[in-house]
Amino acid sequence: MRSLITNIHLLAGIENGDRRRVVSGADMASMRCLKDAWVLAEGGLITGFGTMDALPDFHADTQIDASGSIVLPAWCDSHTHIVFAAARDGEFVDRIRGLSYAEIAARGGGILNSANKLNEADEEALFDAALHRVHQVMAQGTGALEIKSGYGLNTESELKMLRVIRRLRETLPIPIRASFLAAHAYPASYRNNKEAYVKLIIDEMLPRVADEGLADYMDVFCEEGFFSVDDTSRLLDAAALRGLKPKIHANQLHNSGGVQVGIRHGAISVDHLECVAEPELEALKHSDTIPTLLPGAAYFLGMHYQPARQMIDAGLPVCLATDYNPGSCPSGNVPLLLNIACTQMKMLPEEAIQAVTLNGAAAIELSTQLGTIAVGKTANLIITRPMPSLAYIPYDFGNNPVGRMMIKGRI
Ligand code: NIG
Ligand code: FE
Repeated sequence: MRSLITNIHLLAGIENGDRRRVVSGADMASMRCLKDAWVLAEGGLITGFGTMDALPDFHADTQIDASGSIVLPAWCDSHTHIVFAAARDGEFVDRIRGLSYAEIAARGGGILNSANKLNEADEEALFDAALHRVHQVMAQGTGALEIKSGYGLNTESELKMLRVIRRLRETLPIPIRASFLAAHAYPASYRNNKEAYVKLIIDEMLPRVADEGLADYMDVFCEEGFFSVDDTSRLLDAAALRGLKPKIHANQLHNSGGVQVGIRHGAISVDHLECVAEPELEALKHSDTIPTLLPGAAYFLGMHYQPARQMIDAGLPVCLATDYNPGSCPSGNVPLLLNIACTQMKMLPEEAIQAVTLNGAAAIELSTQLGTIAVGKTANLIITRPMPSLAYIPYDFGNNPVGRMMIKGRI
């Protein structure tokens, strides 16, 4: 199966010889592009691209005329909680009336509210609802996802969530990574015996998750009132023995020490980072850990934004992800995320787009296969509606820039 896209107004995010794991600092502002271009996909992979004046005489099974459109790599959303049982619109109203996210959590709402709903939910219904959400975000340009457990908070329900994620991976044509996040909150029944819950994760849940091959990563919500730096450290040590690398929730509500403990354990990424200062940026500079910003959560919770500009100016490879979840960001809409990143964090459009393409792929260890337009990478591409420039994608907020999606070389 050969698919050829021709007359592309702008082919954005190309890579020729040199392949990068991430794009960092000042390089984030320049996206390599070709004007008036074509791209060929064969067997699900990109097999060539160039300018229309030098289009070889190909036979293609499908030919797509992309006049006026931009073609770019599909979004790689490296942080989501897309498997959940119910919305939390009641808490949304509570927050409008003045309660904080932390206050709602302390009253037994928040993550515990989602856990109660998930415990009651049937696996089939969870799968159907999550599948619907994934189809929605794919229509908005998403071509790879990471999905977390963390609304189970007991062995059976955590495994139930991870099985749903596995089934999504088997059903859908896009790459999906799974993170084990039992350390998302202490269940109410362990409120007075937190140590026993950490032990339950280490001694009972982790072995089963690892034996059944249900997760790629270990996640911990390292935060005041949730899991301490010491808990996080023990959990990540135990996960490493089972082959699970860390990707953690760090520094969302407080400067919790999450960034440094993640880096010490070789985390692939540390995510959120609303509350960071110079020592965190300095530690990130001396590591391969990717700083993943989730401004959709800061937006929805009315918090201050992550210092994206400072991080890019410090030479870091900033990644963006949606955090799609029912509590702090009930949206997996990457075009909207790009708008928030540009307007609120002053990221340039090219910086924001590269943060959720190549750097998003790197944050799920897929940058050899996704995130740029390069020969041999998977042909997961966005063909936009006709538009003048890359900047138009975040500029035209509220509208879907996607005209068509190519997934594994198929429209
Ligand atoms: O990334 N902060 C922790 N976890 C999620 C929110 C989960 C929830 O509120 O349901 C987050 O924001
Ligand atoms: Fe999250």
